[in-house]
Amino acid sequence: PYYTYIDKETCIACGVCGATAPELFDYDEEGIAFAKRDKNSAREIVPRQYEDDLLDAEEGCPTESVKVIEKKLNHFLYSLN
Ligand code: F3S
Repeated sequence: PYYTYIDKETCIACGVCGATAPELFDYDEEGIAFAKRDKNSAREIVPRQYEDDLLDAEEGCPTESVKVIEKKLNHFLYSLN
């Protein structure tokens, strides 16, 4: 499964991520993006149906601020113990 967050220090408010993956990213009052499903904590698994959008946003961000973490299933299960 994938997890995601925005590096708000490097985001330049270009707006690509929210346009590419509107279910995953939103913007604060300054236009800086954040992962909206889990308040930018990278704790919630990105729903499978949004995985392609996530990877497109990662690729489209000009400052590489869309961070993607992939955890293998066994690692994930292990981490639950
Ligand atoms: Fe910021 Fe990159 Fe999104 S610059 S608005 S995180 S596409």
